[in-house]
Amino acid sequence: MTTTLALVAELEQLGSEFDGVIAPLVDEQAIRAAQAQFLGKKGRVSEAMKALGKLPPADRPTVGAAANRVKDAITAAVDRKLGELVAAARAADLARTIDVTLPGRPHHSGHLHLLTQVRLEAQAIFAELGFAVAEGPQIETDWHTFEALAIPKDHPARDMQDTFYLSDEIVLRTHTSPVQIRTMQAQRPPIRIIAPGQVYRRDDDPTHSPMFTQIEGLCVDENISFADLKGTLVHFVSRFFGKSLAIRFRPSYFPFVEPGAEVDMACSFCEGRGCRVCKQTGWVEIGGSGMVDPDVFAHVDIDSERYTGFAFGMGLERMAMLRHGVNDIKYYYEGDLRFLGQF
Ligand code: PHE
Repeated sequence: MTTTLALVAELEQLGSEFDGVIAPLVDEQAIRAAQAQFLGKKGRVSEAMKALGKLPPADRPTVGAAANRVKDAITAAVDRKLGELVAAARAADLARTIDVTLPGRPHHSGHLHLLTQVRLEAQAIFAELGFAVAEGPQIETDWHTFEALAIPKDHPARDMQDTFYLSDEIVLRTHTSPVQIRTMQAQRPPIRIIAPGQVYRRDDDPTHSPMFTQIEGLCVDENISFADLKGTLVHFVSRFFGKSLAIRFRPSYFPFVEPGAEVDMACSFCEGRGCRVCKQTGWVEIGGSGMVDPDVFAHVDIDSERYTGFAFGMGLERMAMLRHGVNDIKYYYEGDLRFLGQF
């Protein structure tokens, strides 16, 4: 039969046994499990206390006090042990050597592609003149790309275009001029739009890529003249290159304009004196232009007796090349960060 003394001794024994149990433990979960094994509802302390009922009532407070001491001691041992673990983890962290004098690793942030930057700038400059941005599909109908622009199927001008045909009637657009047609189908004059976008031609050498970017311009209203075309382009190149550069027109033929002209600007590198970029001529070609042909107006039901308009198309890669001295069009598309990171 259990005596009071024996039970008190057993309880104290449990207390010291617990110290031995948790001493080797190194993680919180195991420590909590050990704690439950001793102090839980069915734990060893509770089991031992079952004998309490058989003791003389006068002795019970003594045993109860002993049980409380053991519980407090176990709880304190758990807290101490957990505290030690946290401290040990901290110390290990601090012991890891960090050379605070090492230079930091630079943080590389991305930026817009050069062509995107240049396109957004061009859009902003044309916006100053009231031109809105218009868009059209890159996979385009033969009709929008050619027919409506007065280039019928047997027209010799089709040979100039090096077209990728997807079917008899569907092409990859060879220029942004079909956006002129789409815009005039959708809205009535006054019209003032620019249409930047990718175009495709079967062409591939250091200054030509099978895909490149044009900016089309179209302005249709009453009393629009060639002088308006010139004023618009002069304003654009001056703002784009940040200095006033002369523009000259060379008579040329595009079926959808009459008269038509190729646009040259004074070489932005040598300002017209002659250098390698302009092949000593002082001029560089930047695009085609002209007054909208009445035939084109007829295709989109605009009265050519009342309205006139000008149109132009420029190569964006060319403009970016002239501004930043890029000498191979392929650099734009290769995605090489050594190139792209310069802008
Ligand atoms: N679309 C023509 C080309 O790509 C350029 C151009 C546009 C010419 C508008 C005149 C008017 O060659």
